[in-house]
Amino acid sequence: MRNKSQCLSFSVLFFFFFFLFSYHQSQAQPSTTGYTCSANQTTYPCRTYAFYRASAPDFLDLASIADLFSVSRLMISEPSNISSPSSPLIQNQPLFVPITCSCNTLNASYTISFANLSYTIKSGDTFYLVSTNKYQNLTTYQSVEVVNPTFVPTKLEVGDVIIFPVFCKCPNQTQLRNRVNYLVSYVLQPSENLSSVASRFGIETQAIIDVNGNNIRPFDTLFVPVARLPELKQPAVAPSTPPSAETPSRKTERKGVIIGLSIGLGICGASLVLVAGMWIYREALLKKKREREIDEQKQKLQFNKGGRDLKDMEVNFMADVSDCLDKYRIFKIEELREATDNFSEGCLIQGSVYKGNIHGEVYAIKMMKWNACEELKILQKVNHGNLVKLEGFCIDPEDANCYLIYEYIENGSLHSWLHENKNENLNWKTRLRIAIDVANGLQYIHEHTRPRVVHKDIKSSNILLDSNMRAKIANFGLAKSGCNAITMHIVGTQGYIAPEYLADGVVSTKMDVFSFGVVLLELISGKEAIDEEGKFCGQKLKGYWREMKRGK
Ligand SMILES: *[C@@H]1O[C@H](CO)[C@@H](O)[C@H](O)[C@H]1NC(C)=O
Ligand SMILES: *[C@@H]1O[C@H](CO)[C@@H](O)[C@H](O)[C@H]1NC(C)=O
Ligand SMILES: *[C@@H]1O[C@H](CO)[C@@H](O)[C@H](O)[C@H]1NC(C)=O
Ligand SMILES: *[C@@H]1O[C@H](CO)[C@@H](O)[C@H](O)[C@H]1NC(C)=O
Ligand SMILES: *[C@@H]1O[C@H](CO)[C@@H](O)[C@H](O)[C@H]1NC(C)=O
Ligand SMILES: *[C@@H]1O[C@H](CO)[C@@H](O)[C@H](O)[C@H]1NC(C)=O
Ligand SMILES: *[C@@H]1O[C@H](CO)[C@@H](O)[C@H](O)[C@H]1NC(C)=O
Repeated sequence: MRNKSQCLSFSVLFFFFFFLFSYHQSQAQPSTTGYTCSANQTTYPCRTYAFYRASAPDFLDLASIADLFSVSRLMISEPSNISSPSSPLIQNQPLFVPITCSCNTLNASYTISFANLSYTIKSGDTFYLVSTNKYQNLTTYQSVEVVNPTFVPTKLEVGDVIIFPVFCKCPNQTQLRNRVNYLVSYVLQPSENLSSVASRFGIETQAIIDVNGNNIRPFDTLFVPVARLPELKQPAVAPSTPPSAETPSRKTERKGVIIGLSIGLGICGASLVLVAGMWIYREALLKKKREREIDEQKQKLQFNKGGRDLKDMEVNFMADVSDCLDKYRIFKIEELREATDNFSEGCLIQGSVYKGNIHGEVYAIKMMKWNACEELKILQKVNHGNLVKLEGFCIDPEDANCYLIYEYIENGSLHSWLHENKNENLNWKTRLRIAIDVANGLQYIHEHTRPRVVHKDIKSSNILLDSNMRAKIANFGLAKSGCNAITMHIVGTQGYIAPEYLADGVVSTKMDVFSFGVVLLELISGKEAIDEEGKFCGQKLKGYWREMKRGK
């Protein structure tokens, strides 16, 4: 009797463990909340890879994909067999993105492995959309909810930093012994099956089934066991920049040969040698001089320039450094040409500033000669909501032009609002806010930069209004850092120039304050700083003031 019940309880226990075990087995199958791992497994954390497909509209360049996964472009381009990290990608181009996989204990009974990726919520983002679109189903919204228990999915705010747990696994000791060094995270597409994935990675279908089971549906993550990454076949890209500096010199060489030949036909061989020799010598001298000039200018911009054959490497290097600094983008001249319709009249905003659309973003593009140095130096140092932001720059070695690319400010200049669109009036509240915005911007450059920056050309046409009618100070082309200098070279705009600067050339923050006063007069009176007769608007105001006092 007793034996029987013992036997029964044993078999109950056995079945209980059996079910527990099989339950664990099914957990190892594709799961929505994550893939369990054992905290005991000593192979965590590990470096592994996720298979990612470039996709329109936001992820057709390595920079944005690298941003999404918090890695650098080189870290993606190297394992993915891409030679130039800065060239654009095509739809569905395959990539291996490195991730760090760790085993995370969420609570006493729940440990899952994932790569901890921080993502800052932008407008329109939900857990579902970011998981399925941006991370391409490498994670699920259910898992995002589990990993971010403090956030309510329906109450996300722009700027919230959310962890997106990209699914991953590290091989265990047995697998490592069997030369499985990576378990690559791969999302099965509807058009694929396990055997097509296996052949893509050069392994047996059974190896995938051993790790993932047989029950894999489209858009599930599976782990592909490989000894090393397969080399991806990348579409051949057209060389991004033709070696521009070479073309003209090759042309002149050919010209030299033709001229030499005709002379040779005319006169004797000896003079031919002499003339040709002199020609080549002169060319070489000129070329060297030109090169030296460009070099000097580039050094001023603090980019050390190597030999011409190093150009490609250097561009890549610069692009990668810019990734780390994460402040400026280096644009390509082709991008700017395309954006501005080859710098056509239609895209001209004013002066040498063009409006251009680069990958769906609108920018203001200012073309200048190499004298961009001072402006670049100053804009690098400042960052304030009331100053127009520099987004990046571009250097065109061919015609020695430098381009500064700024954020595009939708509503144009204060000058045009005050004096051109007469039918659209600014109300007093807006005018007051504009005045405060400009004052804040000025206070920032005068008091919170080292050395101080003097703008030197504050006027209503250099104050731009954004879509919310907030003001931003633009055009640091004449600005100077460091002050209390004396200059002989008076720059600025008539009507706004401070008297002490006009008389003695004293550069100080006070001259900006004077010009700001003139802008305030414009804001209050709606009159131009200098009227048609060339009279200063303040003069008239003095008259009004006197009248008002007399009236009282
Ligand atoms: C983890 O390791 C500890 C001792 O190192 C052992 O007692 C425990 O049973 C292990 N747990 C699992 C799930 O392997
Ligand atoms: C641990 O977390 C999982 C997933 O959120 C949950 O289902 C489970 O109830 C939790 N267990 C405990 C003991 O809190
Ligand atoms: C993810 O990383 C952040 C810092 O990068 C860290 O604060 C956080 O605890 C990590 N979360 C998990 C679950 O590992
Ligand atoms: C992710 O999965 C959903 C279905 O679960 C699918 O509609 C969507 O297209 C997938 N995303 C990508 C990028 O494949
Ligand atoms: C390692 O992983 C494989 C596949 O998931 C599994 O069959 C095996 O039991 C694991 N080995 C150890 C020692 O955990
Ligand atoms: C898998 O897909 C390939 C084409 O992509 C096809 O030729 C093959 O028959 C499919 N295999 C199975 C088992 O469905
Ligand atoms: C690397 O990509 C190039 C095309 O960009 C391709 O020709 C080459 O075969 C690839 N390498 C390998 C080993 O597949």
